[in-house]
Amino acid sequence: MENPKGKSPKDSAVETRYLLMPHQANPHGTAFGGAIVAWIDMVAAMAAQRHCGKEVVTAAIDSLVFKEPIRIGDQVVLKASINYVGRSSMEVGVQVIREDPYGGNRVIATTAHLTFVALDENKRPTAVPPILPETEQEKKRHENAKLRVKARKELLKKMG
Ligand SMILES: CC(C)(COP(=O)(O)OP(=O)(O)OC[C@H]1O[C@@H](n2cnc3c(N)ncnc32)[C@H](O)[C@@H]1OP(=O)(O)O)[C@@H](O)C(=O)NCCC(=O)NCCS
Repeated sequence: MENPKGKSPKDSAVETRYLLMPHQANPHGTAFGGAIVAWIDMVAAMAAQRHCGKEVVTAAIDSLVFKEPIRIGDQVVLKASINYVGRSSMEVGVQVIREDPYGGNRVIATTAHLTFVALDENKRPTAVPPILPETEQEKKRHENAKLRVKARKELLKKMG
């Protein structure tokens, strides 16, 4: 049964997997960043949709860090979960994990934070359910997301 007080991150978390193909690579044989960003945007949008049950749009890709290259033939695991929600916005965290197809060795290759906004039938921002972080990791991600949202608002204010 749905909790009227909100949803936990695990209720909407999404995990998916791809194989990096040659057409998704750059001339050096590693992943083209744009292909990875498209996967990130899609997996994050699905988590946001699952959280609010409404149409969502990407408002911002707030951070994107390519830590490790991904090579043609690597399996790529994407995990997305809701870190934080405002009134109509949701911050989604995404981890992109490179998995060796033979040994199964896993490395975090890319991380991202994105903001999605839920829209009503008139395409206007509309309220989303609260987020209820439960585990220590979920609580930490929630606190860190709060800091990012606060910093973004302060920066916007300073820039006028
Ligand atoms: C995202 C969008 C709906 C926001 O509309 P808006 O008129 O600025 O709406 P509001 O000012 O009422 O803000 C709505 C929420 O979005 C958040 N928001 C708006 N711009 C943002 C940004 N650049 N970064 C993060 N959050 C943002 C606001 O903080 C607010 O959050 P809250 O309701 O949780 O407090 C609008 O900018 C839009 O349609 N953008 C294009 C989206 C798009 O085409 N994406 C690519 C394809 S999916």
